[in-house]
Amino acid sequence: MAEFKVKKARPIASEISVPGDKSISHRAVIIAALSNGPCEIDGFLPSEDCLRTVDALRALGVQIDVLEETELGPTKLLVHGRKGRFKTPGQPIDCGNSGTSMRLLCGVLAGQAFEAELTGDASLSKRPMDRVIQPLTHMGARIEARGDNGRPPLFVSGGPLLRAHYTLPVASAQVKSAILFAGMYPKGKTTVTEPVTTRDHTERLLDYFLVKTSHHDHDISIWGRQTPESRDFTVPGDISSAAFWIVTAAAQRGAQLIVKNVGLNKTRTGILDVLVRMGAHISEFVEEPVRGEPYGSLEIHGGPLSATTIEGEEIPNVIDELPILAVAGALSRGTTVIRDAKELRVKETDRIAAVATNLRAMGVEVGEFEDGMEIVGAGRLKGAILSSYGDHRIAMAFAVAGLFAEGETVIKDTECVETSYPKFGDELKRFMSNKISGDLQTTVISSLAQQKALSRRVPAENDVEE
Ligand code: S3P
Repeated sequence: MAEFKVKKARPIASEISVPGDKSISHRAVIIAALSNGPCEIDGFLPSEDCLRTVDALRALGVQIDVLEETELGPTKLLVHGRKGRFKTPGQPIDCGNSGTSMRLLCGVLAGQAFEAELTGDASLSKRPMDRVIQPLTHMGARIEARGDNGRPPLFVSGGPLLRAHYTLPVASAQVKSAILFAGMYPKGKTTVTEPVTTRDHTERLLDYFLVKTSHHDHDISIWGRQTPESRDFTVPGDISSAAFWIVTAAAQRGAQLIVKNVGLNKTRTGILDVLVRMGAHISEFVEEPVRGEPYGSLEIHGGPLSATTIEGEEIPNVIDELPILAVAGALSRGTTVIRDAKELRVKETDRIAAVATNLRAMGVEVGEFEDGMEIVGAGRLKGAILSSYGDHRIAMAFAVAGLFAEGETVIKDTECVETSYPKFGDELKRFMSNKISGDLQTTVISSLAQQKALSRRVPAENDVEE
């Protein structure tokens, strides 16, 4: 079993690039596979979750060639679109740990004239699928969940679908995307109404691949009988992976970090707003969204953080960052409150319970609610032996906590980080051995000084007491 052994680190002065965005990588290969010809997908995230989607598409008859790869796996793919017509897979499609693969593929398979079985690992087999089964059944697909209580494995019998207008009971970008994919098959307009805005990568990619959609307030519509136009796409870096280093730098007094080529889509940058509210200094250098997704660089200056409340409409925008934001809360002055985040209970693990247990083991006082938690900022953490609970974001959030703790922190069972950020362990070592270097600092600053910050996010005067 792999583990991370972490020691307290000195403030960093560094620059980092993060691997491709997970959500966008899944969607890009799916839409390319549905398209009418060859599409090069560059910047693809070679993580276990995204490779599950690639393997699933290959099992459905899609030819996917590897154009470039690193030691971690393929980063540039040539996907040969099949004009929306896939082949019956010979065997069950194993989605591993990837909820995104399973839910998105349900939408795609709902319109195919064959039956396919979708399976997952122990964690995925416990995750709710009724949220995707219900709307797709309403559109005419037959989906049977053969696990307990509507859980996987799923047997999807696709066929002719009907257009629909579906109001999501739970804010979920995965369910929204599944419905939009299913909406590509029937004649007419299919609309999804979401209670709160969630990540909009599917909509942006559909636009980019010239599929007619519209977006008004919380209604997203797609017109059916459309085939995406084949084209090339570049996936920007994943802000959810960058989040671990952004919080590290923000909470270290005197630290300075530049994150390059990272996705800066407004439906994903809630973490920056939260950290600025907590007192972090962050500048955002946004490039033109040439290919549908804004991206750019971030410059973070560390300092003392103060507590904040994260709740309501902000939650979907920071849903994957809540474990690391809870760690930021533990390092701040005051009590940080997270509410309206019940969804955390049905992620790769129950993230409310996992975060509370691990923070308490590090000496932090934590109150647990059904929909969130209350973290009494300790400023200091003590090293501990912690479980990842088989959840990549718990493993990485607590590795970062270990960088601030007195004594050694050990995170057990860290293989799970392969699902989203295979290079995390290497970067962690780099951060642990980092020293403030005058030279590095000068180079890092001057590289960005030549660019114009399109948005400079700094805390309001007097927000943070020294
Ligand atoms: C994702 C959406 C979110 C997020 C998950 C990835 C996506 O889940 O937590 O890691 O790619 O659409 P929900 O849509 O279930 O909230």
